[in-house]
Amino acid sequence: MPMKILTILGTRPSFIKAAPISRTLAATDDVEEVLVHTGQHYSQNMDAIFFTELGLPKPAYHLDINNLAHGPMVGRMLEAISKIIEDESPNWMLVFGDTNSTLAGALAARLNHIPLAHVEAGLRSFDESMPEEVNRKMTDQMSRVLFCPTPKAIDNLDAEGFNANEKTIVLTGDVMLDAARLFTPQARRPEGLEYTDKSTFVLATIHRAENTDDPDRLIGIFTALETISRETQVVLPLHPRTQTRLDAAAYDFSSSPIRFIEPVGYLEMIWLLKSCTMLLTDGGGLQKEAFFFDRPCVTLRDSSEWTELFESGVNILAGYAPADIIAAYETMRDKTLTFGQKLYGDGHACEHIIKTLFDV
Ligand code: UD1
Repeated sequence: MPMKILTILGTRPSFIKAAPISRTLAATDDVEEVLVHTGQHYSQNMDAIFFTELGLPKPAYHLDINNLAHGPMVGRMLEAISKIIEDESPNWMLVFGDTNSTLAGALAARLNHIPLAHVEAGLRSFDESMPEEVNRKMTDQMSRVLFCPTPKAIDNLDAEGFNANEKTIVLTGDVMLDAARLFTPQARRPEGLEYTDKSTFVLATIHRAENTDDPDRLIGIFTALETISRETQVVLPLHPRTQTRLDAAAYDFSSSPIRFIEPVGYLEMIWLLKSCTMLLTDGGGLQKEAFFFDRPCVTLRDSSEWTELFESGVNILAGYAPADIIAAYETMRDKTLTFGQKLYGDGHACEHIIKTLFDV
């Protein structure tokens, strides 16, 4: 019988993380991967485009659970994934990152006695007001195997008393570096974005709940981005959550100097990262992707789980106050940076992950 892995996906970043693993699994003997898509992300450009572009196989199960608060979303996913476990009897459950879909998969595995493997384990922002911090800590607790992208992630688990006799903790490097390595040759400019060899722009993305749910904070952030836009073009692919919140706050898109574009697929995002002068973001994975493409980053948060980026000076935590965002932008604009450190492994995290699943 081949080893059966039930992989839980649901959000845009998990599609990117899963792509290199699924591709490597498909080329590996004696293993069967069953993909479960929770449906947390569902719009064409937040979901389907990633499957087409990244060659992800069509999920065996699609749960279509979305647009719910944290608790009800996780609860409904838990029920549905538990049923799938009953039908499939997998040898492993594989989950990625820190989203609601991750936590639901982890709970389903644990409650149904399926060993759980967590990709991107051990990360901490130490800010429990973020749903992602709660999701990742609980998922780590329930995991049998913890795949850590960085030495810092291992240190975090040590500090929390994780016992290497009971759990397998492995430093794998980052699967997002595998994905960047694999897909960079196919990077392409987003349609409709006018660009010449002389164009320069700053790339910005804002979508985290803590920045979008409070209208004053949200508008403050966009005021700062507008100020920066008057000096250099700011290109911003607009996440649906942010669009909804800006609409509710009566943001005046028509007179904004920011260049808003639709959410982009992964290949277009790589092009934007390679072509921008700097990234301003509150995303998680994007902070690392800026580093993969040697771009400075300003992080619009009070904390981040990718602390090695701040220590190496290529990223700066700005918080969310307009004056602080502008000051951080100017600091990074005027700074000479060196890239090239190997902070996230060798781009072969997938192989380490799959080998471990066979060995444990
Ligand atoms: C989720 C993750 C976050 C990750 C982000 C990537 C959690 C707690 N957060 O946040 O860590 O960085 O995904 O994008 O899981 N929406 C659509 N179409 C979609 C997806 C979302 O319209 O395809 C809208 C819906 O109105 C939805 C809202 O965005 O209610 C928020 O989506 P949700 O999946 O709850 O969280 P994200 O903000 O995307």
